[in-house]
Amino acid sequence: QSAASSKIPSQSATPPISVVGIGNKVAKPDYSEAKIVVATVGLPARGKSYLSNKLMRYLKWLEYDVKVFNVGQLRRSRARQRALTSGQRESHTAEYFSHSNEEATRLRDKLAEDSLDMLIQWLKDGGNVGIHDATNSTHNRRDKIQQRVAREKGFTVIFLESICDDPEIIAANVALKVSSGDPDYKDMSPEEAKTDFLRRIRAYEAVYETITEPGISYLKIINVGDRVVMNHIRGYLQSRIAFYLMNLHLKPRSIFMSRHGESQYNVEGKIGGDALLSVHGQTYAEALPGLIKNNIGDAPLTVWTSTLQRTIQSAQYLPYPKLTWKSLDELDAGVCDGMTYEEIEKQYPEDFANRDEDKFNYRYRGGESYRDVVVRLEPVIMELERQENILIIGHQAILRCLYAYFHNFKQADLPYIKIPLHTVIKLTPKAYGCDEERYTLPIAAVDTHRPKPKAPAPKPLREATPMTSRRHYYAEEETEEVAPLE
Ligand code: F6P
Repeated sequence: QSAASSKIPSQSATPPISVVGIGNKVAKPDYSEAKIVVATVGLPARGKSYLSNKLMRYLKWLEYDVKVFNVGQLRRSRARQRALTSGQRESHTAEYFSHSNEEATRLRDKLAEDSLDMLIQWLKDGGNVGIHDATNSTHNRRDKIQQRVAREKGFTVIFLESICDDPEIIAANVALKVSSGDPDYKDMSPEEAKTDFLRRIRAYEAVYETITEPGISYLKIINVGDRVVMNHIRGYLQSRIAFYLMNLHLKPRSIFMSRHGESQYNVEGKIGGDALLSVHGQTYAEALPGLIKNNIGDAPLTVWTSTLQRTIQSAQYLPYPKLTWKSLDELDAGVCDGMTYEEIEKQYPEDFANRDEDKFNYRYRGGESYRDVVVRLEPVIMELERQENILIIGHQAILRCLYAYFHNFKQADLPYIKIPLHTVIKLTPKAYGCDEERYTLPIAAVDTHRPKPKAPAPKPLREATPMTSRRHYYAEEETEEVAPLE
């Protein structure tokens, strides 16, 4: 960023420095060789679906193609289809999960196999990481998975066992299952549902075999992050998956995000640089400690800033430990650093159009793309997962990338997420995704959000561009079908 700062003073007054070429579009990394089956192992209510969905969110943020294949969902959807033809509803109470019920055991094994076949087909069609979200609780079941995956060249399997003996975590998972409108329990009272689900757990406990097979790749996560055991984790992606999962924890906490107070550059409409706060920005810095204190009281908190003056200045009155991260510095706009959008459009029209065309992939000449920023923020995400209460005082592009991770945004929508000045965003991680609250302080600030320009009107006699790929202004959240807790 120091290079960026040195370009600031002369930029708008003199003609642009000569740089060959234009800012280019950076291609997505080639992950086509990555073919991994992650098969979960564990009793019901041990957070397998939680881990599966977290892992999916993380890897998708890094642009891997990931899908969760939840066997419980397949069971319910097939039961629904059978009910439509036979007119009879099936009941999947605890008896259905008992190992002494041979017919049901055969059906459940078949469901797990079919789900694995679907997963493998999906990997063959281009997917990278397929998560087989099931109990897979016996040696026999795991042998079958191994044998099936071994038939596919270049495919590997890791078992992800979630062991949990913390009564509080189990009770919370059981409560979530019975209160989440789970279709298995929709005709029961909450008490009946709880009794039945506990009986289901006991039915699994009767046959459960923890992983002891020496030759297989596995990760055992004990009480979500208390202890982790790893065996035969090989290769880059497997190690990355293991490293991510070992950093997770379930302690209640909040992640606060705020952009720095309004800067002098914001007022002038310039991007990048290392300007100081404006008068309004300074007022925001003074008001921030009160807002945070009102929110978390005396709970411990750590403040992270970038190395740029405007974030450090914004954090100056906060009475908490502070950490400065180079990785949190704003997206580097290269030769455009210190210019206004209008100046960029005039001096680098082709670059300007290219960025509007594909903002996530566009890399400024001598600078960065949003994709580059996501890559440099990966260690920040890893550390965020390990920490408890954190307040990040960052920048527009940086906070968009972090926010997209927590809310599962698509890459194309990420650069248009609205992160206004003088607003604190509070994210509270929950079983699936995050709760969000926004606090906007009544301190004036400019709006630096530049909406995606509307698509040009489609030419006559040609097929119109679908509106979904031309979404403009506020980005929409990606909706994932979330598996109920198993
Ligand atoms: O305008 C403030 C700012 O933080 C700039 O420094 C930065 O280049 C820009 O926002 C990023 O936003 P966008 O990607 O929408 O240009």
